[in-house]
Amino acid sequence: MDDFLLARVVHMIGVVLWIGGVAFVTLILLPGLKGLQPPGERLAMFERLENGFAWQARLTTLLTGVSGLYMLYVLDAWERFGDPGYWWLHAMSALWLVFTLMLFVLEPLVLHKWFARRARSQPDRTLALIQRLHWVLLTASLITVAGAVAGVHGG
Ligand code: HEM
Repeated sequence: MDDFLLARVVHMIGVVLWIGGVAFVTLILLPGLKGLQPPGERLAMFERLENGFAWQARLTTLLTGVSGLYMLYVLDAWERFGDPGYWWLHAMSALWLVFTLMLFVLEPLVLHKWFARRARSQPDRTLALIQRLHWVLLTASLITVAGAVAGVHGG
């Protein structure tokens, strides 16, 4: 297996674990918490379960980013960033930046405290906001994956 193929395999394993996790949180975990009693427990339970995924997501985000940059380096394809036809490369990079900011900066430094404060006064609205945010991230991720696969394979 050459270097490029290895990077592609690592890239895809990273994407599967990372976006698969986002899908699980959005489609199964968050809706499943709606019926939990008492309502004040819902956000606490979400944080407990999601914490494990956040660590996995940090690792897979790093793997995906490093392998993606390595592929660009091997292909020497930096000029693609100037070509709108490669919108899926822009989408991959933008999505990666958003997740990296969320996981490494905003969540530990800002969002965690903000959600905890809001959760005390309005737990259900806070959970609904988290659910909406996950829907936006999952939709953007799936459009990006579809565009990248079609783009790479000549669609
Ligand atoms: C810094 C971030 C990223 C960079 C630099 C990057 C770069 C690349 C490169 C260079 C390729 C191969 C292109 C080719 O063969 O012509 C690729 C493929 C791909 N990437 Fe990324 N990527 C990044 C993040 C992501 C993210 C966040 C996702 C998922 C949401 C993603 C999903 C894919 C997919 C599905 C393919 C197609 C693989 C195939 O069908 O063989 N990438 N990426």
